[in-house]
Amino acid sequence: MSEQKLRGGVIGLGVGKAHAKGYRTSPDVELIAVCDSNEERLQTLAAEWAAPVHYTDYRRMLRETPLDMVSICLPNALHAEATIAALEAGMHVVCEKPMAPTTAAARRMLDAARLHNRHLMIAYNFRYRPDTRWMKQMAQSGALGTIYQANVSWRRETGIPGSGWFGAKTLAGGGALIDLGVHVIDLSLWMMGFPAAKTVSGDTRRLFGPRGLKTWGSRPPGQPRPDFDVEDGGVGFIRLANGAHMIVLATWAEHNQPQEDAIRVELQGTEGTAVLHIRNYRTDDTLRFYTEMHGEPVTVVLSPRFGGPQGHEALIHDLAACLRRDLPVPTDGEQGLAAIQILEALYESAATGREVALDG
Ligand SMILES: NC(=O)c1ccc[n+]([C@@H]2O[C@H](COP(=O)([O-])OP(=O)(O)OC[C@H]3O[C@@H](n4cnc5c(N)ncnc54)[C@H](O)[C@@H]3O)[C@@H](O)[C@H]2O)c1
Repeated sequence: MSEQKLRGGVIGLGVGKAHAKGYRTSPDVELIAVCDSNEERLQTLAAEWAAPVHYTDYRRMLRETPLDMVSICLPNALHAEATIAALEAGMHVVCEKPMAPTTAAARRMLDAARLHNRHLMIAYNFRYRPDTRWMKQMAQSGALGTIYQANVSWRRETGIPGSGWFGAKTLAGGGALIDLGVHVIDLSLWMMGFPAAKTVSGDTRRLFGPRGLKTWGSRPPGQPRPDFDVEDGGVGFIRLANGAHMIVLATWAEHNQPQEDAIRVELQGTEGTAVLHIRNYRTDDTLRFYTEMHGEPVTVVLSPRFGGPQGHEALIHDLAACLRRDLPVPTDGEQGLAAIQILEALYESAATGREVALDG
């Protein structure tokens, strides 16, 4: 292990604030540089965190400031160019989800990581919770038997993001599916050991966003948003190469229980079903296991212990610890690409009305 702490940076200070917390609390890395094109946001946060170096232009920051690792927390369409620039500058990268809006862009990121021999991690913060980790162990232990169905969803009653770029296809690549669906697709693939996807069928709709309705924190009547050109809800059916299938549903907006914001990952197996149900980001009462014993139904309620860093903070700690000790990096870009392949095919299927086959 090197004597000195690693040097870290964050580009984009929206969810980048959660990354910054990880750099500021890790024993293995320190926050040296931050960047945001919004000068006011940059000055405020750089001062609050006492970050020695701050820039509004990330290319200048990467050129002028030697760093070991950097977080890319920009709008989706900028992930590839910023990640590749950081890799070219010799830095390891944590890129926010979704890895990129297209598989072509995601592959360019992977090629650059290989070329420059740097690590590329995707910020799947939900992998860093004791309940999701427990469920993965459960699935991989064989306790569920053969898993034949993953039923996954993230549904919000009123949850169209307030930052305007989320509603613009050129900047976001898509709507609820690529923003929320990507998390639950990743969680289920990760828990099942990344089975390949064979075919994908999807449908999308855009019902509330263009009317200016159901944006977080807003009240009706909304202002029409003719520029809103992504889906505010979508659904998919994915056949997996191991014989199982996945059903995915993601909504930013729907008429439902007021304030509902619920993540659900069900893995159904021949010997039992595990259900993760996270309501409004809470940590209590999130796990159930259903099976039968001696001919009678049995329900197990699990109460994993939450404590210590989680989510983004924990993933930055994890990556820094692995890099400093030369250990294998926990999530790699290939796993990020797997979800993007499915999402790209979902959008193609929704546009053409046909099932899409994925090669190999
Ligand atoms: N893992 C999660 O749970 C999670 C949560 C929220 C967002 N995200 C992801 O993080 C990324 C950012 O989302 P957000 O919610 O923080 O968005 P945001 O709009 O709140 O923040 C983005 C920031 O980037 C800055 N920015 C934009 N273009 C820039 C540029 N060229 N150079 C420097 N700064 C620039 C903006 O000024 C803004 O401060 C997205 O990819 C999103 O999907 C992930």
